[in-house]
Amino acid sequence: MLNQKTIEIIKSTVPVLEQHGETITTRFYQLMFANHPELLNIFNHANQKQGRQQKALAGTVYAAAMYIDNLEAILPVVKQIAHKHRSLGIKPDHYPIVGKYLLLAIKDVLGDAATDEIIDAWAEAYNVIADAFISIEAEMYDEAASQQGGWDGFRNFIVARKVVESDVITSFYLKPEDNGGIAGYLPGQYISIKLEIDGEKFTHIRQYSLSDSPGKDYYRISVKREAGTANPDGMVSNYLHSGVNEGDILNVSAPAGDFFLETEKNTPVVLLSGGVGLTPMMSMLKTVVELQPERKVTFIHAAANGKVHALREEVEELSKLEHVTSYVFYDSPTEEDRRNNRFDVEGYVTRDWLKDKIAVEEADFYFCGPVPFMKAINRSLKDLGVKEERIHFEFFGPKGSLED
Ligand code: HEM
Repeated sequence: MLNQKTIEIIKSTVPVLEQHGETITTRFYQLMFANHPELLNIFNHANQKQGRQQKALAGTVYAAAMYIDNLEAILPVVKQIAHKHRSLGIKPDHYPIVGKYLLLAIKDVLGDAATDEIIDAWAEAYNVIADAFISIEAEMYDEAASQQGGWDGFRNFIVARKVVESDVITSFYLKPEDNGGIAGYLPGQYISIKLEIDGEKFTHIRQYSLSDSPGKDYYRISVKREAGTANPDGMVSNYLHSGVNEGDILNVSAPAGDFFLETEKNTPVVLLSGGVGLTPMMSMLKTVVELQPERKVTFIHAAANGKVHALREEVEELSKLEHVTSYVFYDSPTEEDRRNNRFDVEGYVTRDWLKDKIAVEEADFYFCGPVPFMKAINRSLKDLGVKEERIHFEFFGPKGSLED
């Protein structure tokens, strides 16, 4: 328990840290990686380069500090991060390392303004925050390992099938090398894949949403080939597309994530996706038709055109079911798309279209896609009066904000 004085120091210094937040976390990463280069095996280098991780971490540290005497209030945020940490294999031993270099970075950036009193208060606060993460993650590790077919850490999976789904998306069907059972999951959850790439000094870990319904003897991921091999995201997805083949082994951690379809509800459900954001939506669609065949579900997918539109046949097949409706939006259809009537609407998903076609006052909405797509959908739903608790979304990579 922190004493009142420490709490006051923490709360009064949050604005200062907020002002220098990104400089501090950038410095923190420099110092930490210089002294613990082995951590580059778990951190996503692409997020580092884009500064996204810095923002995500800084944001969480301020939030946690503001609620240092009531961490319960930010439990959903802690849990969402803890899912990611568990999936990456972050362990209690890692926390003192992060704490040490975070405090050194604060000292470095704030200089004389960081008095011993302030540093001591932040050291105490960091320990309280770290303990909250560690205990929630311990529960998650237990749960992942103790459930049927579950396991701790990474496990070898064989690529049983590799299926090209579009010009840019390929699916991988993964089965455990040991032929044992595999853990169940909730539709919308992801797995982490750890890759060793030839010529690369460090391993790369990436999260991919599961794109099939649970209950199979495999996990399916559907991966988009990102442009260019120079950026780390492009490097990893290009490696999966070109360098990983049927029969190869991938390192996989048990499913995780707090974005999933609530199947105990019976409200109509609207699944919206842009581009490769369709992967968690596919899992949700397939799960609804299997578990809740009477539930109304609308599947709305936006892609540039037919060349990059993945899993179309699967959705078309499911759309024949009585309670399933699907709409395809192309913003740049090809002549072939027009000839073959491959889409329903040319352009983007707009507020007016949603108002016209969807009974927005009753439905639960789930969406995933590029940030501009998600911002537009979020804004439209808010404008149409959809309540916050019925809006669910997932970012690729670190969570950000959908507000402008
Ligand atoms: C991800 C916060 C401790 C390693 C994240 C994210 C946040 C965060 C906000 C982004 C989650 C998302 O993707 O939406 C924190 C806080 C910590 C902490 C507040 C301390 C209390 C640690 C420790 C390690 C670690 C001890 C390991 C040394 C990672 C990694 C990611 C991550 C590897 C994924 C980021 C990426 O690959 O770019 N953390 N974290 N974190 N965290 Fe932590």
